[in-house]
Amino acid sequence: MIDFKQYGIDMWDTDKIDSFRKTLLAWYDREKRDLPWRHTKNPYHIWISEIMLQQTQVATVIPYYERFLEWFPTIADLANADEERLLKAWEGLGYYSRVRNMQIAAQQIMTDFDGHFPETYAEIAQLKGIGPYTAGAIASIAFDLVEPAVDGNVMRVMARLFEVNYDIGDPKNRKIFQAICEVLIDPKRPGDFNQALMDLGADIESAKNPRPEESPIRFFSAAYLHNTMDKYPIKEPKKKPKPIQIQAFVITNSKGEFLLEKNDSERLLAGFWSFPLLETQIVAQQLSLFETDSKETPTISQKTVFEKDYRLQPVWSDQTFPLVKHTFSHRRWLVDIIAGTVLDDTLANDKTLAWVKKEDLDNYPLATPQKKLMASYFKANPL
Ligand code: ADE
Repeated sequence: MIDFKQYGIDMWDTDKIDSFRKTLLAWYDREKRDLPWRHTKNPYHIWISEIMLQQTQVATVIPYYERFLEWFPTIADLANADEERLLKAWEGLGYYSRVRNMQIAAQQIMTDFDGHFPETYAEIAQLKGIGPYTAGAIASIAFDLVEPAVDGNVMRVMARLFEVNYDIGDPKNRKIFQAICEVLIDPKRPGDFNQALMDLGADIESAKNPRPEESPIRFFSAAYLHNTMDKYPIKEPKKKPKPIQIQAFVITNSKGEFLLEKNDSERLLAGFWSFPLLETQIVAQQLSLFETDSKETPTISQKTVFEKDYRLQPVWSDQTFPLVKHTFSHRRWLVDIIAGTVLDDTLANDKTLAWVKKEDLDNYPLATPQKKLMASYFKANPL
């Protein structure tokens, strides 16, 4: 247990804590959202919902959640799933390492726990891709274990309740919020307590448009009572994502099929198929190996690198496309498209390449930036 005073936190007495629990849970019982994963105690289902909910909002998650369970109804199905189908199930959600980790965790459950989801916090937290938040959510919701589930939303609510003067974006401060929640959590209804805080944090206590007057716990909130809601939570601005210049090559053959490549570079979304992509900086390094003038016009040179790498001789189109932009958490892709056609469509065998009809493009796992690329190309070239 941490010393709250040392962190400038004025912890409540037990009566106030008790009254807080009652107020919060009474509100939850009245107002809770009816969500598919709230009709189950199945830890596998709750796990899937929690991982998906880390990526996007509830309304987006619902159809993904339902389809995922149709495709992979059991832990064994997930453990044995084909990689492409797995990525397809996650297509559009982003952070694909999460679903890969889920598969590894499912395999761990099959081998280490005989296919049964582990039932203690420590064992759950050992599974690949499950951190303290997810372990707490599964432990409390599926198994009624008295474990907090502290994510950004919950930290925001706590920061306002206690006027916490520590940055909620700094991982080393997480322990402060975890300690507060360990004291407040209702031991009789831990899963509901955690989910009530999540619901509050997602809506009434949201980051951008909070509606403090509607909060059921406003009279417990130091920030509300002291009129400091606009100061809390303390959150330092994030670093800007690093821009990466990428060249995409939309190559068609004489049958009108498109060249797709399965990426093996983690930086370019390994495992996904897309139009061939080259990172411009890496291209610049390659070019310096066989060109002396480093200020040459980049597209000409990138075409040269493409021709060497893929051993194809496209007739390049002079069509231009708007830059396709996509922001990930730490990187921002700026993708320039060049189109071309080939007569000889023999494929190099040192890459995973395929010629794909337009109507079959959707059968391949495509990440959101790759879909944006296709949309941009087909907008300019409706077939
Ligand atoms: N966000 C993360 N987990 C959630 C849950 N179980 N209910 C609602 N929102 C959530």
